[in-house]
Amino acid sequence: MIKPIKLANKNFLSSLDLSTDEIINILDLAKNFKNNKLNVDLKNKVLGLIFDKSSTRTRVSFQVAMSRLGGTTIDLNPTTSQIGRGELIKDTARVLGRYCDVIAIRTFSHSDLEEYAKWSTKPVINALTDLEHPCQALADYLTIQEEFTDFKDVVLTFIGDGNNVANSLILCGALLGVEVRIACPKGYEPNSFVINKAYEIYNNKNLLKISDDPNTAVLGANVLYTDVWSSMGEEKQKEEKDKVFNGFTIDSDLVKKADKEAIILHCLPAYRSKEITDEVFESKKNRIFDQAENRLHAQQALLSCLLH
Ligand code: CP
Ligand code: NVA
Repeated sequence: MIKPIKLANKNFLSSLDLSTDEIINILDLAKNFKNNKLNVDLKNKVLGLIFDKSSTRTRVSFQVAMSRLGGTTIDLNPTTSQIGRGELIKDTARVLGRYCDVIAIRTFSHSDLEEYAKWSTKPVINALTDLEHPCQALADYLTIQEEFTDFKDVVLTFIGDGNNVANSLILCGALLGVEVRIACPKGYEPNSFVINKAYEIYNNKNLLKISDDPNTAVLGANVLYTDVWSSMGEEKQKEEKDKVFNGFTIDSDLVKKADKEAIILHCLPAYRSKEITDEVFESKKNRIFDQAENRLHAQQALLSCLLH
């Protein structure tokens, strides 16, 4: 019977906080949670949730994950806690560590997340920052593994903004040996630290390609993935980005250039006729709602490892 392994790093702030073996263990655990083949008891454990940005999937999947594991959650937001009045992160973190067993945080600046982790005596999980969305990447690769037996045979093409979702996909993909191609407009490439780290991890440097040509990037791809063009916090840039990203929509013409059996992923929420057409979104190739469900199973697995 598979068991949660103790993670070497206390926190999960970045995909880089996990080793390849740890990711594989989490994905295996997640599959077992999904098939109801695994019971982990986190009775009396409390997950604190801090959301400085909106969330549907991350918030609900963490709450349901804790509930299924026998624990509970406390949902904090800036308006109903003292966080919005400017209480220092280092004070909030030290207090929450006295009540909670683990804290998941969605915020803007990645350095704020790191500040929480620095002061918290309990594990901190990245529930999305401007830099990374590593919980999403775990669910994404779980969804990919359900379709393709071996990560080494998979070509994942992400078309759109080189944002938090793309950054975590790159890092987790590098750790799993997946070929990752990113097609984004010039000036919207993924974070350069992330790209350099990924090149350090890959044995074969050809497995990561960044370009501004979606038509070439999709050739033979097994997975087509996209995310919103304007992320939370980028509302003012929306008009400009809508123009710059013209030509980066996943539409049926682009899908035809990928592998015949290719699947479509989107972390959601989606904006039809921007990053993806309604036709592609609703097509048989879509695994988007399995992917959303997998957030729950992957996070049950992650929590089991962090709290075990
Ligand atoms: N994919 C994702 O993180 O969704 P939410 O913003 O709804 O949590
Ligand atoms: N890149 C998006 C992801 C939403 C889940 C954002 O940060 O808004």
